[in-house]
Amino acid sequence: MNSSITPKLNILKTETSRVKEVDFDNLVFGSTFTDHMFECDFINGEWQNPTIRPYGNLSISPGAKVFHYGQAVFEGMKAYKDEDGKVWLFRPQQNFERINKSAKRLAIPEFPRDIFFEALTTLVRMDKEWIQPGLGNSLYIRPFVMATQVGVSASPSTEYKFMILAAPAQAYYTGDVRVVIADHYSRAANGGVGAAKAAGNYGAQFYPTNLAREKGFHQVIWTDDSEHKYLEEAGTMNVFFRVNDTLITAPVSDRILDGVTRKSVIDIAKHNNIDVEVRPVLVSEIVEAAKDGSLKEIFGAGTAAVISPVSAIGHKEHVYELTKPEDSYSARFKKDLMSIQHNITEDPFGWRFEVK
Ligand SMILES: Cc1ncc(COP(=O)(O)O)c(C=O)c1O
Repeated sequence: MNSSITPKLNILKTETSRVKEVDFDNLVFGSTFTDHMFECDFINGEWQNPTIRPYGNLSISPGAKVFHYGQAVFEGMKAYKDEDGKVWLFRPQQNFERINKSAKRLAIPEFPRDIFFEALTTLVRMDKEWIQPGLGNSLYIRPFVMATQVGVSASPSTEYKFMILAAPAQAYYTGDVRVVIADHYSRAANGGVGAAKAAGNYGAQFYPTNLAREKGFHQVIWTDDSEHKYLEEAGTMNVFFRVNDTLITAPVSDRILDGVTRKSVIDIAKHNNIDVEVRPVLVSEIVEAAKDGSLKEIFGAGTAAVISPVSAIGHKEHVYELTKPEDSYSARFKKDLMSIQHNITEDPFGWRFEVK
């Protein structure tokens, strides 16, 4: 859509805010939503009627294609409030570009930049009372698109709904994470949709993750689908390994999501003169490094949890325990990232985006 004919954003404000009823100290991640939400429909080949309205249920036909073919993609991003009450987004342009990349892969029409940013910033501004200041507190923002055309023929929908929801959040994971290396199930394949945030990618992980939980692990480290030889992602996070003092992570590919936290960690590490290797990571080299003690740290990186240190990895019948070193990279990256996100330190990279 040409930006010169971008439709005007309709705004319907709630009469009674629910914010006073919320127990911000006991939030369950992503289950309490703010007063408002954004929606916009793709009909007759155009995105139209962009509207922010009170959060509430949708009325949608059970014949809508999203229910039958999973034609849906989403994003995850956060807003933060600093001690002066200013509100910040972190690299929102990255999420905008990625949702359109995901959409393209799922044959969903791209969403216009102007409407995305106007809707995002207006929604965050309208619901900013829902953002608590303080490290670890944030507003988790969930843009998503789904196929709404009615019809169970297996073909791309001609109609879609784009929405943005927002949910106040505290730190996502508590404690360190025990992970098991996948040696049977796969998250993604070459030529597949692993690099897209396609809804079905996540539903497909639940069963193998449940099996891992039954064995006492929290998450699966996904490996390549053909040989299970390379380490690729940890649950819904990108994964980093520290061997001696070198930071290693896999390159993004068809199978690996181009994570915003991942690329930020790489930049922060380089900025701190840490050696970074972006290359395929063999299961065998990490198992060897765990055995000979050169494996110092493993951590996941993603918007929801920021950085999640791994305390143990399971591989075949063995479990290798990791003790966090005193000069922990994961703790340092988490602190550096959160300090930038919460406007506590300088932002030498220009990542912060103020919602005025
Ligand atoms: C599969 C997968 N990998 C990695 C990530 C981390 O990406 P980001 O740092 O952009 O949140 C996510 C979460 O968004 C994810 O779903």
